[in-house]
Amino acid sequence: MKKMQELREEMVRICRRMNASGINQGTAGNVSVRTPTGFLITPSSMPYDDMTAEDIVEMDFDGTYAGRRPSSEWRFHRDILKARQDVNSVLHCHSVYATTLACHHKTIPSFHYMTGIAGGTTVRCARYATFGTQSLSDAALEALTGRMACLLGQHGQISLGKDMASALWMAIEIETLSRMYVQALTLGEPPILSDEEMERVIAQMTRMSYGMGPEEEGENDIPRQRTEV
Ligand code: 13P
Repeated sequence: MKKMQELREEMVRICRRMNASGINQGTAGNVSVRTPTGFLITPSSMPYDDMTAEDIVEMDFDGTYAGRRPSSEWRFHRDILKARQDVNSVLHCHSVYATTLACHHKTIPSFHYMTGIAGGTTVRCARYATFGTQSLSDAALEALTGRMACLLGQHGQISLGKDMASALWMAIEIETLSRMYVQALTLGEPPILSDEEMERVIAQMTRMSYGMGPEEEGENDIPRQRTEV
C-alpha cells in the first residue's frame, strides 16, 4: 500500500493529466482513492494547476473530513468505495462527448467492441439528480452495477479503477467511445454486436487484462516477451 503522501502527490499528477488529456476543464471533475482508514478526495472548486498535495482532503466513510472542503460529490465517491471492494479509485468529469450523450440520457450500446471495457454490453446512463446530492449518488451506484463506468444524466461521467491511473484510463476510453458513438450516430443508429459476441469480447478482455497491464504468461495464442539468452 502506497504511503499517504505518495497518494496525495499521485492525485495531483492524475488531476493535471486529466486536464491535459482534454477530458476536464476549469474546476469541474473530482477524484478519490481508498486509504487504509477511509479515502482521499480532491477539494471542492479548486483549479488543478494551483492544487498541491497538501490541499487533498482526507475523509472517513462517516463523512467527516480533515483539511479543505471536500468535493461536492463526496457522497458518490464515499458510497462507491464503500459498496465496491473491487474498486480503489473513482474519477468524475464532464468530458464533452460522454456528456453530450448524457444530455440525451443515451445508454452506450455495443455498437463497438470497446463498450465491453466497462464490463458489460452497455454503458448505462444514470437518471438526472442535482449535483452533490444523495439522490445522485444512489442513481450513480445503480447505473454502475456490474460496470466500471457510467454516464450521469445531464451531467457527465464516472469511471472506476483499481488505482487512480486505471480510473483515468477508463475515463479517457469512455470519452473516446462516446465520441465514436456520437460520430456513428450522424449516419444513423449503428448496428449492435450480439450479446454472444460481447460475452466473447468481455471474456477475452478479462483474460488479457485488456488495457490494464501485461498479459498472463503461458497462453499459446497471446504473444510472450522474449527472454534474454
Ligand atoms: P467539485 O469542485 O465540488 O468537486 O465539483 C465539481 C463537479 O464536477 C460537480 O459535479
